[in-house]
Amino acid sequence: MNYLVTGGAGFIGSHLCNRLLKNGDCVVCVDNLQRGDETNIRGCIKNAKFKFYKVDATDQESMEAIMRDQKTDMVYHLAANTDLWESMKDPELEHHCTFLTTQSILNAMRNTGVKKLFFSSTSVIYGEQKGSPFTEADELHPITYYGSAKMASEAYIYSFSYMNDIDALIYRFSNIIGDKMTHGVIRDFIFKLKNDPTHLDVRGNGYQTKPYLYVDELLSAILMIGKDFNGVEIYNVGATSCTNVRFIAEAVIKEMGLEGIPINYEDKEMGYKGDIVKYEYNVDKINKRGWHSIMSSDETVLRTVKELVREFGN
Ligand SMILES: NC(=O)c1ccc[n+]([C@@H]2O[C@H](COP(=O)([O-])OP(=O)(O)OC[C@H]3O[C@@H](n4cnc5c(N)ncnc54)[C@H](O)[C@@H]3O)[C@@H](O)[C@H]2O)c1
Repeated sequence: MNYLVTGGAGFIGSHLCNRLLKNGDCVVCVDNLQRGDETNIRGCIKNAKFKFYKVDATDQESMEAIMRDQKTDMVYHLAANTDLWESMKDPELEHHCTFLTTQSILNAMRNTGVKKLFFSSTSVIYGEQKGSPFTEADELHPITYYGSAKMASEAYIYSFSYMNDIDALIYRFSNIIGDKMTHGVIRDFIFKLKNDPTHLDVRGNGYQTKPYLYVDELLSAILMIGKDFNGVEIYNVGATSCTNVRFIAEAVIKEMGLEGIPINYEDKEMGYKGDIVKYEYNVDKINKRGWHSIMSSDETVLRTVKELVREFGN
């Protein structure tokens, strides 16, 4: 099989490239390195079945040429903006990196006859709801530019699927963590403490509570379905238990050997505007397809804290 992975030099994309190569498939990775890093795909580059193109995925002409030349069977479209702080200041970032990349990929697939698409959507798409656990049937009320660009992408995928007989598998990930992470609260805490180990300032009151899933478990869910989907299929993928920010702050401090330093919480629920402070995830639908998470959210956090402190902590 010939796979194209957009955003393949990023956190999840680089893990995916590795796994596809291990299965013996050919992988073309496209990334503009806005957030990804060539060191993430260091291991892949040695493999003759791997090619890397430093290309912006909105460059439709290049995407078409790559799909045609490489005889792409399926696209894993993971390229997106994942820096929500930046896009809060500049919504254009989401329009370009999250929405227009999707539009460009769909147009290129339409023009080259590629019929299978995987799309990485997000729990953020549910936005402000009256309550969770979120299920796939819930209404979508995204409150961030990132969430709305993913929602617009999903809508575009629907129409391109219908008009062009493209099959699309859409996974709405909860929080995914693990080694090579390029963003997220664990990484933020580690870098804050590296800069100043005397105390930790936390955004919000620390009771923000979310489900954290380890990246390998997400990959099992992605590869379990492989190409076996028809029309547009949507699944929530995430952990069934949750972890709060206080647990994460204490775990990072302990792992960095800084026990006893003060942790300063703010007197407000929300760490930043647009954050969904607490949510749980309903994953019954993907469970019925045969995928179940193994580690609890707390176990996932503790494992990732260890890995990231080893990677960045010193
Ligand atoms: N990590 C999570 O918790 C999480 C949760 C929900 C959804 N997702 C989605 O999963 C996907 C991968 O996320 P990640 O956590 O690996 O983030 P990441 O930032 O590490 O990966 C995204 C990659 O896309 C690349 N990229 C961005 N704009 C591009 C463009 N215009 N052209 C080419 N490449 C471009 C970046 O350089 C980066 O390497 C994203 O679509 C993200 O929205 C991630």
